[in-house]
Amino acid sequence: MGEASRVALVTGGARGIGWATAEAFLAAGWRVVLCDIDGAEAGRRAEEHPQRILPLGLDVADRSAVEKTFTEVIRQWGRLDAVVNNAGIQRHAPLEELAPQDWLAVLDVNLHGTFHCLQAAGRIMLPQGAGAIVNLASVAATRGAPGRAPYAASKAAIVSLTKTAAVEWSARGVRVNAVAPGYVETDLVKSAIANGRISLDPILQRIPAGRLATPAEIAGAIVFLCSDGASYVTGHVLHVDGGFEADYGVPFSQGGRA
Ligand SMILES: NC(=O)c1ccc[n+]([C@@H]2O[C@H](COP(=O)([O-])OP(=O)(O)OC[C@H]3O[C@@H](n4cnc5c(N)ncnc54)[C@H](O)[C@@H]3O)[C@@H](O)[C@H]2O)c1
Repeated sequence: MGEASRVALVTGGARGIGWATAEAFLAAGWRVVLCDIDGAEAGRRAEEHPQRILPLGLDVADRSAVEKTFTEVIRQWGRLDAVVNNAGIQRHAPLEELAPQDWLAVLDVNLHGTFHCLQAAGRIMLPQGAGAIVNLASVAATRGAPGRAPYAASKAAIVSLTKTAAVEWSARGVRVNAVAPGYVETDLVKSAIANGRISLDPILQRIPAGRLATPAEIAGAIVFLCSDGASYVTGHVLHVDGGFEADYGVPFSQGGRA
């Protein structure tokens, strides 16, 4: 079966990395189920490709809504080949001041939402013996992230969940991987800069590539992991970060002596 008829479901698909991922799937000939809590924006995006995008309002933290959505995809399009667990939110606060409701809000969307959709995807893909799932992690998964405790914890848990799902499902044809972006030019980062939570200059100094990623650069890695070219790749965390993870952070001084 060629990739032309395949169906990918992308959560948080109305903007940022999610929309760029939808565009990359469309360019590769796939159809896309565009799920977002902002169903109106997902609907507007779908106007560009009415036959090839199915827009659905969905809060990934709502377990029963997730189950209904996956049932609806099979009812309308009859197949599901890839799922991208991309929906994610951020809350900033010093750890000692973090409100429990902010902790829960981030975990509910980032981690529990990923779990709900991962499980719903597995229940469709395992019986068909094929499927690819990509979860969005972050460079924050493996490092301390000051002021972003629930976000970093959620992303670390997503890495762990990704590896467990990959190991459980590999022999049954379902691959599960994660993409860990560095800093990407999306609303998530722009709003954190605009409201003074993070500053652009130290971020750029910390990235060996010296620039932010475009959403399309993250999307390319996600679509690769869902393609036949990645048929033996599972349980992998692919950093798409301009060298952020590789760099241990102490600059070399050319003025020094050997
Ligand atoms: N932007 C970055 O620099 C960066 C870096 C590392 C990881 N990531 C991860 O990539 C993913 C996408 O990030 P982005 O920068 O494109 O974000 P974004 O804020 O630009 O877009 C997120 C989308 O998710 C939707 N959404 C929010 N809550 C939802 C919910 N409960 N259910 C369904 N949809 C919901 C929003 O409406 C929005 O359309 C996130 O998981 C994020 O943590 C982003």
